This record gives sequence, C-alpha cells and structure tokens, in this order.
Amino acid sequence: MYKGYMAHRFSDSSIACHILCCTGSSCKKRGAAEVLEMLKKELKEEGLHEYVHITKTHCNNLCEHSPILMVYPDGIWYKQMTPKRIKKLVQQHIRRGAPLKKYILRTIPY
Ligand code: FES
Repeated sequence: MYKGYMAHRFSDSSIACHILCCTGSSCKKRGAAEVLEMLKKELKEEGLHEYVHITKTHCNNLCEHSPILMVYPDGIWYKQMTPKRIKKLVQQHIRRGAPLKKYILRTIPY
C-alpha cells in the first residue's frame, strides 16, 4: 500500500487522491489531452496509479488559465499545466505532498 502523505486520510480505502482534469474545449486546444496522458503515464511509472482516481471534467469557466486540473482532497487547482509540469506535480505534490506553488490558481479544500 502507498504510504505517501495522503494515505492516512483514507484508511478504509486504497484511494488517497482524486485528480480532476479539465477537457473542455479551451483546455483541449492548449494541450489537455497530452497533459492527461502524461498524468496517467507518470502515475504508473511512480507506482501511484492504484491510489489516484482521475476524472475528466467539462469546462470549469477558467479558460484563460487552461489547461487546468484539480487535486483533492487538498483542493488545489492548478493552471497552465504542461506534460513537463505534470511530471513535476506527480513527483512533488502527489508523491511528497509539496504542491507546485508557482502554478496554483486557487485552493478550495473540502
Ligand atoms: S475549457 Fe478548461 S476551464 Fe474552460
């Protein structure tokens, strides 16, 4: 079982994190599909794919910041994601619990 920073929050489940990826038209135009592919690839490579759920969303009305994604339960919304930044996000935020401050758009915790 994943012993990362979020595991304790879901002691009765193996799912520690839920990532929502916007795949609305503006995010798509700016590379949301590549971002999503890199997210899946990186989670698998890091051995975290069993502990993270990914959901595609429609437009979140934040198109000027696209592509965006949200990490819960932390409630951190990221802006201007790229495949390179996703790699860093998985290694720093999902693996170690250290959000990428430079790309935080807003924080809306549960
Ligand atoms: S399409 Fe993603 S925020 Fe609008």
